[in-house]
Amino acid sequence: MQQEKIDAIKSEIAATDAQNADELEAYRMKYISKKSVVGELFAEMRNIPNEEKKAYGQLINEVKVLAEEKFQVLIDKVNSSQKQSKTQDRDLTLPPTNVSVGGIHPLTATRQRIIEIFERIGFNLSEGPEIEDDWHNFTALNFPENHPAREMQDTFFIEKNPDIALRTHTSSVQVRVMENQKPPIRTLSPGRVYRNEAISARAHCIFHQVEGLYVDENVGFADLKNTLYHFAKEMFGKETKVRFRPSYFPFTEPSAEIDISCQLCGGSGCNVCKGSGWVEIGGSGMVDPNVLENCGIDSKKYTGFAFGMGIERIAMLKYQIKDLRLFTENDVRFLKQFRPML
Ligand code: PHE
Repeated sequence: MQQEKIDAIKSEIAATDAQNADELEAYRMKYISKKSVVGELFAEMRNIPNEEKKAYGQLINEVKVLAEEKFQVLIDKVNSSQKQSKTQDRDLTLPPTNVSVGGIHPLTATRQRIIEIFERIGFNLSEGPEIEDDWHNFTALNFPENHPAREMQDTFFIEKNPDIALRTHTSSVQVRVMENQKPPIRTLSPGRVYRNEAISARAHCIFHQVEGLYVDENVGFADLKNTLYHFAKEMFGKETKVRFRPSYFPFTEPSAEIDISCQLCGGSGCNVCKGSGWVEIGGSGMVDPNVLENCGIDSKKYTGFAFGMGIERIAMLKYQIKDLRLFTENDVRFLKQFRPML
């Protein structure tokens, strides 16, 4: 009699299904709770003759375990079907919510691009301090004692005698590299530089340069020219032309200013290039033998070239930015235009 009832409950449990939370709860009430049919079987215990209690106990325990196991199976089933229906409810054709991410500053992007171009032709990176002594910023670079660049109008001095100043160019890094490394040297030094100048659309007292230095046996002016031809084409496009204008720097001899064909008019003349078709991007030259010797490099065996460019200047030409102050004002309307990386 009891056996039959138990078997019936067992097969009922096996046959029960649940599709949702309500049906789960109904199952719980019917087979798990105190007042459930299984609970009733336990309550029945007191009417069972003592000698049968043990066998009966075993039987109803089996039912209890069975009911609980099935309950877990049903919970898992309902949960996973809920998850599925949640994804089915999603409308994948809706436009995405607008996530605002930060961009790369145009100066950072330009510096990265310059580094990439020179790294691919074998230049490594070097850095030096922004607070420099007179030796690395001037004396080792062959600046004569009375050179105007040492005067207060150009240089922010921090201490006098011995002079400590904010570096006025990244050429100071080439001195540090040559003092510490043996040729062949092929290095690129980007960094911040300082000059005591009034802030305007074309000048700032803080700006960025990148200096390139190549020292080895038999390095000639043709190497300098070809390196910069390569750079200009990679940076500004295949059609870009480069010209070298004779110039003077204390640390290079001969020296040349580097011009590229105007990015705006392509060389025919406009207000950006002031009608000339050319714009200046930096200075260059063959490292003066005095500089090599000052840094402990044998100038009879080795020669080298160096160049220096303003990163702001390159960025202004690349993106046709007319006012240098935009780089530091942090106006989001300006910065937003540079979201994608170069
Ligand atoms: N240091 C120079 C400047 O600041 C640029 C330069 C670098 C020129 C290397 C020649 C060689 O203007």
